[in-house]
Amino acid sequence: PQLKPLAGKKAIVTSGPTHEPIDPVRYIANRSSGKQGHAIAAALAKLGAKVTLVSGPVTIPDPAGVAVTHVETAAEMLSAVEAALPVDIAVMVAAVADWRVASSANQKIKKQPGEAPPPLQLAENPDILKTVGHHVRRPGLVIGFAAETQNVEANGRKKLEAKGADLIVANDVSPETGIMGGDRNRVKLILPEGIIEWPSLAKDEVAEGLAQWVADQFPSA
Ligand code: C5P
Repeated sequence: PQLKPLAGKKAIVTSGPTHEPIDPVRYIANRSSGKQGHAIAAALAKLGAKVTLVSGPVTIPDPAGVAVTHVETAAEMLSAVEAALPVDIAVMVAAVADWRVASSANQKIKKQPGEAPPPLQLAENPDILKTVGHHVRRPGLVIGFAAETQNVEANGRKKLEAKGADLIVANDVSPETGIMGGDRNRVKLILPEGIIEWPSLAKDEVAEGLAQWVADQFPSA
């Protein structure tokens, strides 16, 4: 029997949103179903990789054949990712909240009749992809995503550089595309040497294609 192409390789995948608490009952978050990230974790595992999936709060089940760490906030996601290093492959798909509430309340903030709404002071969250892309234990292959609503290609290319990634998978998530929360995705692979456009595919097919692209980066034994 032929060895699976990613046998012996370790991968880490982030998926889903992060939730940043305002108080014990409220949070701010990004929109993300986790469908694409979870599918990528499963596809890498199918090709033989040992996969750790770090997932924010999602409603979809854990994929089979993958070790899953469940987290809530960006800070927790970064800790879980760094704890999994070193790995050969990192695919950062999570829609991480760019900001958290600077000092979240320990008790529920009460609505006071006649009083102005409480101000929300925000603090910047760590950029997990950027941290991994410039890490002393940087994985050999670092892949990021870019969900954009305009100038998809130009913004993706800027991200490739800024984040220290080898590949940015860019997609147009304008509401009319139906990509956000949907089952299909249309992506462009933005690479230092050029761009590869894929047609509209099921998110599972995007995941399988990406896992195969990853496998192709490793010279076969
Ligand atoms: O800068 P932007 O959020 O558009 O970049 C998207 C890419 O960066 C995705 O791969 C996402 O998972 C990653 N990211 C991250 N940590 C953040 C923000 C984005 O890992 N705080």
